[in-house]
Amino acid sequence: MTKPRVYVTRRLPGSALDKLEEACCVDLNGEDTAPSKETLIENIRDKDALLCLLTDTIDAEVLAAAPSLKVISNYAVGVDNIDVNAATERGITVTNTPGVLTETTADLAWALLMAVARRIVEADRFTREGKFVGWSPTLFLGGDVHGKTLGIVGLGKIGQAMARRAKGFNMSIVYSDTMRASDAIEGDLGAQFVDLDTLLMQADFVSLHTPLLPETHHLIGERELRKMRPTAFLINSARGPIVDERALVRALKGKWIQGAAVDVFEGEPCLAPGLAGLTNVVLTPHMASASTETRSRMADMAVDNLLAALRGVKPEHVVNHETRQA
Ligand code: GLV
Ligand code: GLV
Repeated sequence: MTKPRVYVTRRLPGSALDKLEEACCVDLNGEDTAPSKETLIENIRDKDALLCLLTDTIDAEVLAAAPSLKVISNYAVGVDNIDVNAATERGITVTNTPGVLTETTADLAWALLMAVARRIVEADRFTREGKFVGWSPTLFLGGDVHGKTLGIVGLGKIGQAMARRAKGFNMSIVYSDTMRASDAIEGDLGAQFVDLDTLLMQADFVSLHTPLLPETHHLIGERELRKMRPTAFLINSARGPIVDERALVRALKGKWIQGAAVDVFEGEPCLAPGLAGLTNVVLTPHMASASTETRSRMADMAVDNLLAALRGVKPEHVVNHETRQA
C-alpha cells in the first residue's frame, strides 16, 4: 500500500513530525518562512493531506489546485487563514488545535496586561539605558491591576482562563459574548454578562478572546475605543483584525485610553504606521501560545488530527463538522 502524501509548510517543534513520517510520505518546506502561494499550490497538487500554519492562506484557489486533498490540519486554534466553507464543499476535513494552548495563551494575555499596566517594558528600557538615578515617588506610576474590573470579550476557553487569573487578583469580571455562558460557568468565575458597550464603559482592562469572523472584524474601532475609560487598557492576544489598528494608534496618541498591549496585528507581520513609536503600548510578535511545552503539544495534536482523518476516523478536533468524508 502506498503511503499517503502530506505537505507540511514548516518544521514543527518536538517529535511529532517523526511520527508523521512513519505513516506518510512527507514533503516538508525546509525554509523558516511561509511558502509563497505559488510554492504552496505547486506542492499540494498531488497531496492527500496538508499540515499548515496560520501564516498560510488556504483559499479557494489553493484548494482547487489540490483535487486529492482530504484533510487540512491547522497548527493553531484559529482557522481564519482557511476558507473553511470552500474546504467543506470539497469534502475536506479541517482540524485545529484547541484546548492545549488555552492556559499558555491566557498566561501571555495576563503577562501583557500586567506589563502594560505597570509599564514593565518602558521601565526595563529605562533601566538598561542607565537612566535610573535614584528612587522617586513619581517614577513610572502605572495602574493597579488588583481590585479592578476586567472586561472579557469572548468567554470561550481562553477567555475563561483569563477570568480565573483575574479572580486571583480580586478583580470584578464582566464579559460579553454572542451567547451567554451557563449559570455554572458564570458562578464559578464570578463573571457578569453585559453588552459590549457596557463592558467598554465599565472595564479597566478590556481583553479580547474571540475568533476572527466577519462579525468580529473591527469589533473594536474608533467608536468602541472612545467608549473606553481614559484610564483603561486594551489587550489583544486574539487576532489583529478584530481591532481597527489605525484607530488604536489614534486612541493611544490622543489618550482616549491609557494604553494597550498587542500580540497580533492587522497586517502581520507589519504594524500600523505610528504604533511602534508609542510608549503606551506593549508589542509582542504573535507568540501567545509560544511555550516549549504547548508548541510541541500542538504539533502532536495537529499530527494526530491529520492521521485520524487519513485513516477515516473522525479526528478529535474537527472544525467543519458537516464534512462526512473523513
Ligand atoms: C494562534 O494564534 C492560534 O490560533 O493558535
Ligand atoms: C477555543 O477553542 C479556545 O481555546 O478559546
